[in-house]
Amino acid sequence: MKKYEKYFTKEYMMGPNCIRLADELMKMNGKPLRGRVLDLGCGCGLTSLYLAQDSGAETVFAQDLWVKAGDNLRRFRDWGVEDKVIPIHADANDSPFADGFFDAVFSVDAYHYFAREKGYFQEKIMPLMKKGGCALIAVPGLKKEIEGEPPALMTQWAGDEWTYFHSCAWWKQLIEQGYEDTVTVETWESEQNDLIWQEWFDSGHEYALNDQKYLKQGLDEMMSFVLMKITKK
Ligand SMILES: C[S@@+](CC[C@H](N)C(=O)[O-])C[C@H]1O[C@@H](n2cnc3c(N)ncnc32)[C@H](O)[C@@H]1O
Repeated sequence: MKKYEKYFTKEYMMGPNCIRLADELMKMNGKPLRGRVLDLGCGCGLTSLYLAQDSGAETVFAQDLWVKAGDNLRRFRDWGVEDKVIPIHADANDSPFADGFFDAVFSVDAYHYFAREKGYFQEKIMPLMKKGGCALIAVPGLKKEIEGEPPALMTQWAGDEWTYFHSCAWWKQLIEQGYEDTVTVETWESEQNDLIWQEWFDSGHEYALNDQKYLKQGLDEMMSFVLMKITKK
């Protein structure tokens, strides 16, 4: 992790420390990736850098919607991974990739923005994967589901987006239930919750300082990072 610390800055970070989450996903996976890996919602490409250097992937396709491919290409050049990481500007809802193209799909701190509908994984993500391939996904979430009205602090912080945050059990049910013949879903909670948030706060990014203000008033007790491994049968 030491070699990545120079990237933990507001210039590259777009949320809680995505490299630590990526590393935890890889440890949970327990074996290296291989072949072609899609980094879906890669932001400024930090997880793509990690995947290129430390996951075993041969080629990483770094796809994002808000960040331009040209800006990511410039970073991948500066970081010396231009030959291994291909930047793509595209919406996850309208994938430019062929069916069965990827050995693995990877996504950190992005999936909760666009994939909360039942059947989304099966319609949009699973077709891109080879049989036997896996998706490794990390999202900010909740230790347990909010029953009824959310705490006022939660809506003051996240507005309508408080509905993006869910528990491990909720994500497992969303992706697996009714589709048990095609996928298995394993979930974990991150063991590095506080550190992952703290390194984001320490970046000094204006959004990080706002997150810190709300989390430190008690929301941090409810929040968690949900890690998932979804295997295509
Ligand atoms: C909070 S940022 C995190 C970026 C990066 N994964 C990281 O952790 O630094 C969320 C990312 O999700 C991406 N995203 C949101 N909706 C998307 C969509 N429909 N298709 C592709 N990417 C999307 C955004 O472009 C943004 O870069």
